[in-house]
Amino acid sequence: MRIFLSLSLLAVVFCHCMAQPLSDGMIRVSTDATDLVIAVGPHGRLYQAYLGPKLLHDEELQHFAKNRGWEVYSTSGNEDYFEPALGITHADGNMTTYLYYVDSSQEKVKGGTHTRVTMRDDKYPLTVVLNYVAYPKENVIRTWTEISHKEKKPLTMAQYASAMLYFSRQAYWLTEFSSDWAKEARMSSQQLQFGKKVIDTKLGSRAAMHTHPFFEIGLGAPVSEHSGEVLMGTLGWTGNFRFTFEVDNLGNLRVIPGINPYASVYELKAGETFTTPEFIFTISSNGAGEGSRNLHDWARLYSLKEGSGDRMTLLNNWENTAFDFDQQKLSELMKEARSLGVDMFLLDDGWFGNKYPRSNDRAGLGDWTATRDKLPGGIPALVSAAEEAGVKFGIWIEPEMVNPKSELFEQHPDWVIMQPNRETYYYRNQLVLDLSNPKVQDYVFGVVDRILTENPGVAYFKWDCNSPIINIYSPYAGEKQSQLYVNHVRGLYNVLSRVREKYPDVPMMLCSGGGARCDYEALKYFTEFWCSDNTDPVERLYIQWGFSQFFPAKAMAAHVTGWNKRTSIKFRTDVAAMCRLGFDIGLDKLSDDELEYCRQAVATWNRLKPAVMDGDQYRLVSPYESNHAAVEYVDKSGSTAVVYAYDIFPRYQEKLLPVRLLGLDPESRYLVREISLMPGTKSRLAADNKVFSGDYLMKVGLDILTGNHTSSRIIELTRQ
Ligand code: DGJ
Repeated sequence: MRIFLSLSLLAVVFCHCMAQPLSDGMIRVSTDATDLVIAVGPHGRLYQAYLGPKLLHDEELQHFAKNRGWEVYSTSGNEDYFEPALGITHADGNMTTYLYYVDSSQEKVKGGTHTRVTMRDDKYPLTVVLNYVAYPKENVIRTWTEISHKEKKPLTMAQYASAMLYFSRQAYWLTEFSSDWAKEARMSSQQLQFGKKVIDTKLGSRAAMHTHPFFEIGLGAPVSEHSGEVLMGTLGWTGNFRFTFEVDNLGNLRVIPGINPYASVYELKAGETFTTPEFIFTISSNGAGEGSRNLHDWARLYSLKEGSGDRMTLLNNWENTAFDFDQQKLSELMKEARSLGVDMFLLDDGWFGNKYPRSNDRAGLGDWTATRDKLPGGIPALVSAAEEAGVKFGIWIEPEMVNPKSELFEQHPDWVIMQPNRETYYYRNQLVLDLSNPKVQDYVFGVVDRILTENPGVAYFKWDCNSPIINIYSPYAGEKQSQLYVNHVRGLYNVLSRVREKYPDVPMMLCSGGGARCDYEALKYFTEFWCSDNTDPVERLYIQWGFSQFFPAKAMAAHVTGWNKRTSIKFRTDVAAMCRLGFDIGLDKLSDDELEYCRQAVATWNRLKPAVMDGDQYRLVSPYESNHAAVEYVDKSGSTAVVYAYDIFPRYQEKLLPVRLLGLDPESRYLVREISLMPGTKSRLAADNKVFSGDYLMKVGLDILTGNHTSSRIIELTRQ
């Protein structure tokens, strides 16, 4: 209450006439399930009056107080003593900003409604525009902010968040997703107490290596899968990000997502508009499961590249051959890909460099011409060999990086982010190209452009990024270093949008030494991302569980490999089949039965795409809460459902409960069949080949878990 009082008192002091409030003084951003209500105070300041479940009666908006609340985009130097969204030093050195309502508008955009709210400082020609696009059916809101001014000199911004959201509940639980190489998307939860919890990254390019740009907040209770109110938010930014969660003196929570302003004070010139990245969020009243389905639907319809399109199965060679291959070996692998039944052969790292051949990770990055010794016919011969084998051909690149042992580095040392006067550090023996430099952007675009111009048959790219930014110094920026982190990411987007514009139909996998790039801005340019180099299927169950909170299966790439050979090929394949399926394993090392299983798995995956790629996902049994996992997918027509069930390391004589399904029609009847059995084996499932009602399956469930270690089952349900 103290805060509210001080707000209204100060409002009298600072009351200003710039504001022209709306007739009812309220701006409403609505989905079918959520309302965000912004009130324009009598003095013109803007407050978040409400954020929560959708209100049914419009006229009741009048009950919200208009002269108090939380400032919708709080600024530094005002009467709010907690973390601001915007921290500006004006051209004259003044560090305070007060924003007053100017106007607002709403227009229909694809899938939703775009609300723009313009605010202005009363003493400085500074304009801030809040943007919200609300997607009614998917219950997702996308929000970002534009900042511009007409002051005489540039002003400096030390904080420039994408948005600010407030919650008033009894308690808050944060679920975060920490990470490292081969340890992606590890979920952990904690209760938020008074003060701040910050999740951020300072890695620059491989930016999400230690934590991913998304989080969940259980509002009132810890996040749970099927019930309870949960905020799920993610930032579309492929660079340093920061989420600040601050519980104030009254027990209210503010959530501030945005670019991490660490070492990134931004000098904003007059007339320039600073557009923040988008913060995308959903609030579910029925747990994280519903929130994920909201985000999956939204992503497929409105965000992900080729969200409604198809995905290709593939055979990759990284785990199989690493750098050790030649034309002959690759041609053999292409034939293997064909015999497996996948759509494409994907050539990984190690195909380029002549003066400094890429025979290990110490040389060659930057020199994107095929190594003559290894590949005398270059890419054209590989494309032809793939054509002959009857598969498509995809290729790995890491165009933002350079090895010091490369012709590129010899020719353009000034294109590299590197200290002029300090010792150079290397990460994986490489350095990061300075994408803030337009010439470097041209070069990076040229890598893709040249490959595709010379080889229109190249059907796919795996775009890797293995190093964080180290030695942070841009030769291009000279004395203005503080914008490098931001301008580097903008440079990347500039390259990616040129690629998308010229080659809109070429699918690309986003990879960053595993899953260190996984955000919705990058995914406007990529059809899928590589979740992790950790392809041990047990670990993958957790990793995929984590990423599935925010991304549809279609956006997540998973390959069957030789990691954890103690597990069966069936177990490994069944885990990978819950994402965009691929293989990265020497098929010659598989037994006939194993190979046959993989072939069948590809055919089955293709058949089940409408459910797994484009359907509704229900996470039924959590590996975090049990010694098992089960995930169900129901196609949008409701006619097919598929359940993937896994026993990880059950205890001796552990009590096994039937798994209750979700998302079925209680009145319909479903034929239950265990599919994808190893050749020569039969289902032991009591329910196999029997018909049950959706009601029974959802209330009683199916006995599909076992006491075996690392075993799996795939159950298909067909509506009768
Ligand atoms: C890291 C990726 O995550 C791997 O899949 C592989 O492409 C290597 N880089 C190649 O260097």
